[in-house]
Amino acid sequence: MALTDSLLISGASQLLTLRGPGPRRGDSLSNLELIEDGMLLVRDGAIAAAGRRSQVEALPEARAAEKLDLGGRVALPGFVDSHTHLVHAASRAEEYELKIQGASYEEIARKGGGILNSVKKLRAATAEELKKRALAALQQFAAYGTTTIEAKSGYGLDVASELKILKLHKELAAEHPLEIASTFLGAHVVPEEFRKKAGGARKYIQLLEENLLPQIAERKLAEFCDVFCDRGAFTVEESKRVLQAGRQWGLAPRMHAEQLSRSGATRLAILLRAASCDHLEYVNKSDIRALGKSETVATLLPGCDFHLGLKKYAPARELIDAGAIVALATDYNPGTSPTLSMPMIVSLACTQLRMTPAEAIAAATINAACALGREKQIGSLEVGKQADISVFEVADYREIPYYFGVNHCWMTIKRGRVIHAAKDSRN
Ligand code: NIG
Ligand code: FE
Repeated sequence: MALTDSLLISGASQLLTLRGPGPRRGDSLSNLELIEDGMLLVRDGAIAAAGRRSQVEALPEARAAEKLDLGGRVALPGFVDSHTHLVHAASRAEEYELKIQGASYEEIARKGGGILNSVKKLRAATAEELKKRALAALQQFAAYGTTTIEAKSGYGLDVASELKILKLHKELAAEHPLEIASTFLGAHVVPEEFRKKAGGARKYIQLLEENLLPQIAERKLAEFCDVFCDRGAFTVEESKRVLQAGRQWGLAPRMHAEQLSRSGATRLAILLRAASCDHLEYVNKSDIRALGKSETVATLLPGCDFHLGLKKYAPARELIDAGAIVALATDYNPGTSPTLSMPMIVSLACTQLRMTPAEAIAAATINAACALGREKQIGSLEVGKQADISVFEVADYREIPYYFGVNHCWMTIKRGRVIHAAKDSRN
């Protein structure tokens, strides 16, 4: 069903608008701006009015509009998943089993598994095969209430394969209503063929700088440049070089930081005014203080620790207390977090990161929109913003994380169009 012109959405037991000034820090993270029995008027894919029933119903346009009754369910801004590795060829279920039997993520990587395992598979896959898998994933994202994702390359690690992924981002965004922010992660790890050479990392970075980045910029294939700065991946110095080169080609920096060890990546992210630095399990006190004063979003990915069976989650409470802009994302990828469910991430944020349901929802919507530089367009339900809305089959928003592992998303709307509807909502 395509909803065009004006649409009046009523019957929300709770309408979480998240309205108000941009990034939510500290106490303001729990401010959902909840309206009981709230209403939305949508015009041409954007929010034309949001407020109490009495205010919105009285508008002349509301009377003529098409009607959608939510029947007492909860409506909120569509989730913004600001960290995914959307395009990959296959699962790594075999490694999952090894990890359960005691092998660590890094041990598996050292033996040629891990990211390099996914690189082999991606290089061998056709663009068509990758596209089919990614399209199915996009529909799943929508089915869990997500309306915007970020997608990284990084399983190609040669010129043709990285371009294959980035071109797919563009095609997928044109063919599927979900919004995709494209990120170049050529610096995920040093590929096999460069590891055998003397100065391999340096030579690989040179390839990124001299060959890939100019092509990506010229064809406008990415908005951001990311680096995996950690043990077994890239050093702080190497990461700085890649991100500075990316910026020269117009790509804003973001980082994988302090996931496996404390490397100093967060400090670099702040220095470079990165849009976001993600993971942060190993940040130290001074990193936390620095994030509290910076505009760089601290994006937490609890799905990784959960999937890997690790006990060390990022210090969310300390980050919030320090005033950092905390966001949440799935990190959808075959190695550390094969979930595309933002409601599950919100559940993990509550039980493992000790964030309240309200904090977790704000981190997964408005603050995640900030992590993608899209806070003026998405992340809250305010006049002029895109009508990106998710509706859950619950009467109280706290039940979204409470019913963990079960999908209660009843409807997802992107730019005013229904892109997912649970069976019982179709007529
Ligand atoms: O975000 N840390 C690096 N990248 C991914 C994992 C990639 C993989 O294992 O395939 C992450 O956890
Ligand atoms: Fe990642």
